[in-house]
Amino acid sequence: MSINIAIDGPAGAGKSTIAKKLAEKLGYVYVDTGAMYRAMGCYFTDLHIGQEDTGAMSRFCRDAKIEIAYRDGEQQVILNGENVNHRIRTEEAGLMASACAKVKEVREKLVELQQALAKKADVVMDGRDIGTHVLPDAQVKIYLTASTAVRAKRRYDQLLEKGTPCVLEDVEKDIIARDHQDMNREISPLRQAEDAYFLDTSEMSVDQVVEQIAGLAERAVLKH
Ligand code: DC
Repeated sequence: MSINIAIDGPAGAGKSTIAKKLAEKLGYVYVDTGAMYRAMGCYFTDLHIGQEDTGAMSRFCRDAKIEIAYRDGEQQVILNGENVNHRIRTEEAGLMASACAKVKEVREKLVELQQALAKKADVVMDGRDIGTHVLPDAQVKIYLTASTAVRAKRRYDQLLEKGTPCVLEDVEKDIIARDHQDMNREISPLRQAEDAYFLDTSEMSVDQVVEQIAGLAERAVLKH
């Protein structure tokens, strides 16, 4: 049986940075599920489907072929044959991802892909519903968060580092809007699984968080 580590939490909590480092340390595969919703969002944008048009999303999502590949250990998302990794990291793509993540048919399609990946290999998977819905039997579940101000500043620094001009207040507003949408949708809203460890990373370094989760993983693996 493969070992699954589920990491959920709001936007900007540091999930992908932590999950990637943790996967490297443990020799597991990192699965970024947000990237799949972002790719689906790109697909709808290309079709000129607006954020509010959930009816069109549920009809058209079946024609989107989303595949995952790995290059130099980095996850690549392939949308209908095109590698869209370079397109999915904008704030707009994040908002569109959050909008289409409300749609039942979109979620069913992507959850199926996520569960298949977790069956094949030991994974660290991050997202919003991994511990509650995608991998309910994961051996380790983490709910990672940080204050809104800290999350906005981290996201802002990341965007500037990539050369994307932005305003801190706007980034914070986007994060609040996305949290609201992700926590209040009908299907698989973001919430802490009952058996998840709660970690507030506002005052923690990346290495401290990785060490803490790696310790939990070690104990969980020994138990199995
Ligand atoms: O983690 P991220 O910022 O890349 O995710 C983008 C959006 O995708 C997020 O706002 C909500 C949605 N999402 C989701 O609903 N379920 C997941 N497992 C992962 C992401």
